[in-house]
Amino acid sequence: MELKLRLPSIADETEAMAGHHQMLADPFIEFLLDYRPGEPFAAWVERVNGVSLGWHCPEPWLPGEFLFIEADGVVVGRVWLRHSLDAHMAEYEGHLGYVVLRGFRRREYASQALAMSLAHLHKAGIDIAVVTCDSSNGASIALLEGAGATFERLAVSPTMTRRRYLLATSA
Ligand SMILES: CC(C)(COP(=O)(O)OP(=O)(O)OC[C@H]1O[C@@H](n2cnc3c(N)ncnc32)[C@H](O)[C@@H]1OP(=O)(O)O)[C@@H](O)C(=O)NCCC(=O)NCCS
Repeated sequence: MELKLRLPSIADETEAMAGHHQMLADPFIEFLLDYRPGEPFAAWVERVNGVSLGWHCPEPWLPGEFLFIEADGVVVGRVWLRHSLDAHMAEYEGHLGYVVLRGFRRREYASQALAMSLAHLHKAGIDIAVVTCDSSNGASIALLEGAGATFERLAVSPTMTRRRYLLATSA
């Protein structure tokens, strides 16, 4: 099985939109970040890849990369890597967000994508990645702790409690 992280392309429209609609059932997770209902998929691809390639950074984006997780030619998930963080993201979200689509879970895709993401972050000059997850997200907690992440502390706001983990990056 070959897994890679790559930029979205307009050829991904059918799979990517199916994934996006699947994840709409979860109010906390946006599969295609910043996808505006009804907009042409190609417009979203142009906007998101412009961020990843450093051409622009419109809100809600932060400098970084948005990449699909592709396994054996199929889009199975996505990662959003943040190279620099504002105060809210630094405290509650960290450098990395990830989603593996239902139907593709428990196949080690997130574990492999996490390792690859850490290499991308290392290349971007980040030595210690902060990765957070909701304190009720057992799958993400197990994933991070299984990957050797160090629990740092809780980040608590009136609306959420996040577990902050630290992961050393390497090439
Ligand atoms: C969290 C998530 C990315 C895990 O993706 P995945 O590809 O299934 O993870 P992996 O197959 O790489 O799992 C690696 C390990 O994590 C743990 N794990 C993953 N899912 C789990 C679950 N539902 N329950 C318990 N442990 C789980 C296990 O230890 C697993 O290893 P094992 O299968 O050998 O037991 C996926 O469940 C997901 O996309 N959830 C919704 C989005 C989300 O919560 N993102 C994180 C936001 S902070």
